[in-house]
Amino acid sequence: MKKISFLLLFLVAIIAAGCYYNNEEQLYNCPVDAASTKYSTTVANILTSYGCTGCHVAPVPSGNIDLSSYAGVKVVAGDGRLYGAITHAPGLQPMPQGAAKMNGCDIRRVKVWIDAGAPNN
Ligand code: HEC
Repeated sequence: MKKISFLLLFLVAIIAAGCYYNNEEQLYNCPVDAASTKYSTTVANILTSYGCTGCHVAPVPSGNIDLSSYAGVKVVAGDGRLYGAITHAPGLQPMPQGAAKMNGCDIRRVKVWIDAGAPNN
């Protein structure tokens, strides 16, 4: 009985922590607008900071996807795999591989850029 109570308490704590995190993310200062979300100054930096360009780069880019160049990023931005992989959508390999999911703010930035047509700006 004691064990079960402890387990329940633990679960409640995890759920509460999850809610707190979500609230925090909503309050988190995350100004994202298409005008200031550019490939060169935003998206390329995000892909570098999460180590994506460590694996997805010549001469043998993982999954044959080169994320170190605009041309390569544009391909997966256009076919939906970039957004799918970073949001851990079913049917796609979750990225970054072997690491934690990107933070919500950075995911939103990438989405805003994709929704703007993934321009080379
Ligand atoms: C440790 C190496 C590594 C890192 C870091 C990494 N990837 Fe990958 N990625 C891979 C490999 C390997 C595959 C191919 C997996 C397969 O085809 O089975 C892949 C596949 C993908 C795919 C295709 C997914 C699919 O199911 O078709 C996308 C898109 C992608 N990665 C984007 C990213 C992004 C964006 C990041 C950074 C947030 C990232 N990757 C970080 C190794 C990595």
